[in-house]
Amino acid sequence: MAPEKVQLSEEKATLLATLYGRALDARSRRPILGDDLAVEAVKKIDFDFRRTGMSPALGAAVALRDRFIDRWAAEYLATHPDATVLHLGCGLDTRFHRLAPPPTVRWYDVDYPDVIELRGRLFPERPGHRMIASSVTDLTWLEQVPDDVPALVVAEGLLYYLGPDDGRALLRAVVDRFPGGQFVFDAVNWLGIRLQKLNRPVRKAGATLRWGIDGPGELVAIHPRLRCVSAVSAFDMGGFDRLSAPHRISTWIAGALPGVKRSAMFYRLEF
Ligand SMILES: C[S@@+](CC[C@H](N)C(=O)[O-])C[C@H]1O[C@@H](n2cnc3c(N)ncnc32)[C@H](O)[C@@H]1O
Repeated sequence: MAPEKVQLSEEKATLLATLYGRALDARSRRPILGDDLAVEAVKKIDFDFRRTGMSPALGAAVALRDRFIDRWAAEYLATHPDATVLHLGCGLDTRFHRLAPPPTVRWYDVDYPDVIELRGRLFPERPGHRMIASSVTDLTWLEQVPDDVPALVVAEGLLYYLGPDDGRALLRAVVDRFPGGQFVFDAVNWLGIRLQKLNRPVRKAGATLRWGIDGPGELVAIHPRLRCVSAVSAFDMGGFDRLSAPHRISTWIAGALPGVKRSAMFYRLEF
């Protein structure tokens, strides 16, 4: 197969950084996620991945974030084996392959058309798995998804790229459409937005973080059916013993500052 040329910019280009982070982790001596498909995908893409600004240390952090979100998603699917999964801003993440959901689960990977086109060439659809090529903010994409069973919405590395009004409208539309479900995602607060220039992969991609979420109260106010099940700081996601000593120490110091600790969060909302 000829190498895939990519022409992605801004928030779309950030998917190359997270993909490369997973590949670096998989190639490390003690992988956290061990996503060998990411290594294969990187080999097939004609791009100098060093331009993403991703390092082995940052790759380990990406792998820890993926693993954390995988666990929450797996917990939901264990009790809702008939759920529909909406994997929003999927990029080139192989979460479907990692979680290997039962055949009763309908899984939708959603991202921009050019991302889905690339994704389809690297990771073709499988039984129970479909891709939707659309911006998540053009809410008509939801009409392609049956609304008869609960929905697990997984959005990793996505919501901060949306405008706040668009993000809130997306959450509202999902809650209105499905009989129940869960949202699992990571978010930054307004300090995270102000500090975004310190995030090398985001800076290198030329992406802009827009939506800062200052706590669960802001999220549950979006819809009366929403309630917060978990709000966990990224500094508490665990697994830091797998980081190099300098990275572990800097993470520990940053996490000891209360403002910084809340700047990157994982949320699990139920409806
Ligand atoms: C940081 S990457 C994360 C990709 C993937 N979730 C991962 O963890 O590797 C951000 C992703 O969000 C997607 N994205 C950003 N804004 C979007 C939008 N409005 N609609 C659909 N996808 C969007 C980008 O195309 C990109 O794939």
